[in-house]
Amino acid sequence: MASASGIQIPALTLLLLLFPEIIHGWGVDGHLTVCQIAQARLSDAAAAAVKELLPSSADNDLSSLCSWADRVKFHYRWSSELHFINTPDVCNYNYNRDCKDESGEKGRCVSGAITNYTNQLLTYGKSAADSPYNLTEALLFLSHFMGDIHQPLHVGFASDKGGNTIDVHWYRTKTVLHHVWDDNIIETSVKQFYESNVEDFVDAIKQNITGDWSNQVLEWETCTNNKIVCPDVYASESITAACDWAYKNVTEGSVLEDDYFLTRLPVVNLRLAEGGVRLAATLNRIF
Ligand SMILES: *[C@@H]1O[C@H](CO)[C@@H](O)[C@H](O)[C@H]1NC(C)=O
Ligand SMILES: *[C@@H]1O[C@H](CO)[C@@H](O)[C@H](O)[C@H]1NC(C)=O
Ligand SMILES: *[C@@H]1O[C@H](CO)[C@@H](O)[C@H](O)[C@H]1NC(C)=O
Ligand SMILES: *[C@@H]1O[C@H](CO)[C@@H](O)[C@H](O)[C@H]1NC(C)=O
Repeated sequence: MASASGIQIPALTLLLLLFPEIIHGWGVDGHLTVCQIAQARLSDAAAAAVKELLPSSADNDLSSLCSWADRVKFHYRWSSELHFINTPDVCNYNYNRDCKDESGEKGRCVSGAITNYTNQLLTYGKSAADSPYNLTEALLFLSHFMGDIHQPLHVGFASDKGGNTIDVHWYRTKTVLHHVWDDNIIETSVKQFYESNVEDFVDAIKQNITGDWSNQVLEWETCTNNKIVCPDVYASESITAACDWAYKNVTEGSVLEDDYFLTRLPVVNLRLAEGGVRLAATLNRIF
């Protein structure tokens, strides 16, 4: 066991260094934030369903498994293309044009995946007779992808793989633009403003949801035509935010520091809030 893992860890690290683009999605803190916001807003019925679907090891804490979908990417190779959308380098999104994988297969993108796992979860409670789906996995995928689709650079340009090929410095650390949005902005905020306490960061966002943003929440939650989930709306918002904020004024080799951090942080906070509110609203409609 020990020697096997001794080989695996460096191999994995090497892979991640060579192909940073295989890491997609908010980092662990971002996903945790989205799931904690969501779980606190569930209806009784949805809370009961989530509790039943979570493995007992999760101790009824959805956020503890919110990054599960990132961890199974190697095991479930087919799922790695479901975390994002690439546009043909334009600042708008179109499902028919953009929601496909590298081989061109329709529907294989984060928007299609959200619809897929929502539909699977709708079979919850309907005749226990051999549902073809693993609804635990459906819940974990949906919870993760609802976060991903709100990360602006998860709906980015094909030519730079959503900012994965744009080298930048985050203060003095070398990284890529995509990673700045997955992790660095959140990490720096948690460190600087919340004494490295993620829970306090999540609480601050929750407070804004019930405070300053409360008059927008109904609009975030609502899908037109009584749809259960409307991922194409979230994807369009993301590519707009990607162009207006993430890519804006950034070029290869840019050094991003206070100016960029402080102007982009409100966008990150808002997207995390919207992701959490919408995950809860979707689960409440499903169950
Ligand atoms: C839908 O879910 C199934 C089961 O996990 C999976 O095999 C399939 O690739 C998914 N398709 C999309 C577009 O999410
Ligand atoms: C459903 O998926 C989970 C997570 O991958 C797994 O632990 C569990 O055994 C699966 N359940 C069934 C019935 O296959
Ligand atoms: C909450 O809202 C206030 C006022 O708009 C803002 O200054 C603060 O940064 C927000 N905090 C979070 C975590 O969103
Ligand atoms: C981009 O740079 C211009 C010129 O310095 C500045 O006026 C503008 O506010 C910047 N926009 C953003 C979103 O950073």
